[in-house]
Amino acid sequence: MARLESVKDRIELRNGTGVPCVGFGTWKLPEGEAGLDALGQALADGYRHIDTAEVYGTEPCVGRALRDSGVAREDLFVTSKVWNDHRGRDTALKAFEGSLERLGLDYLDLYLVHWPATQGADDEWQSTNRQTWRALEELYRDGRVRAIGVSNFERRHLEPLMDAADILPMVNQIELHPGCAQEETRSFCDRHDIVVEAWSPLGSGRVLGSALLADIAARYGCTTAQLCLRWCLQRSAIPLPKSADPARISENARVFWFDISEEDLRRIDELELS
Ligand SMILES: NC(=O)c1ccc[n+]([C@@H]2O[C@H](COP(=O)([O-])OP(=O)(O)OC[C@H]3O[C@@H](n4cnc5c(N)ncnc54)[C@H](OP(=O)(O)O)[C@@H]3O)[C@@H](O)[C@H]2O)c1
Repeated sequence: MARLESVKDRIELRNGTGVPCVGFGTWKLPEGEAGLDALGQALADGYRHIDTAEVYGTEPCVGRALRDSGVAREDLFVTSKVWNDHRGRDTALKAFEGSLERLGLDYLDLYLVHWPATQGADDEWQSTNRQTWRALEELYRDGRVRAIGVSNFERRHLEPLMDAADILPMVNQIELHPGCAQEETRSFCDRHDIVVEAWSPLGSGRVLGSALLADIAARYGCTTAQLCLRWCLQRSAIPLPKSADPARISENARVFWFDISEEDLRRIDELELS
């Protein structure tokens, strides 16, 4: 793969769809003008990949910011997700239409199952996941979405889904940051050509106080946040940092001018957060 040089550079999924290598997270993005300003700043800084979800309540704001930006639709990459109480074929199809309407778009780039139905919480969890997945397969076949995937699926959720699927998940969006290295899920995804996206790549801000990370970052002359995002990229994951602060939005996009050594990558892999 060619060296990534900006947040606009794309990582290819197995179906050939390119995903801009750093996304902009919108969970807890403020409503109204402050949210629009943050998204406007992100788009001005080059972010083209916006991560939203039915449950975040940010789809209308994302839609408006995208329209206001004047960026061509084909240069944008918009993800949304079907929420837990809309699992199942018919409900997921309906949830998708709702997301499109709130975003004001006529297709999505990526649609994800937000969380798996799980053993203990749902007696029919495998069947529930299959039904939801069937909806996503239909949307993909109908050209309503350019790629489909899951989120928060571990190997034990992925295997039964993949055994019954016609189209395999192309993406798995999981919690991934120093202190949460997700070795098992990442290596499973790697073996099955499923691209990993990293949610909370800064641990929702929690990892930024780590003395070890601060020490390593100082050696590279980057901030601790940039180190976390660079670690995700060098571990082949697409980070989705969220910020509502203009300076931090720009900072999080500048992660292409340094390389973390293999030794430091391993030290970060092994970090345990207290
Ligand atoms: N699929 C899922 O189940 C799931 C779950 C959670 C999140 N997500 C996605 O992942 C995205 C990111 O996760 P997240 O929002 O939990 O957390 P995050 O991106 O790891 O961290 C966001 C926090 O860090 C702060 N921050 C951002 N950049 C910073 C910087 N350069 N220096 C210092 N502080 C910085 C932000 O504050 P300011 O805003 O004040 O800068 C905010 O408090 C979400 O927005 C969402 O799109 C998905």
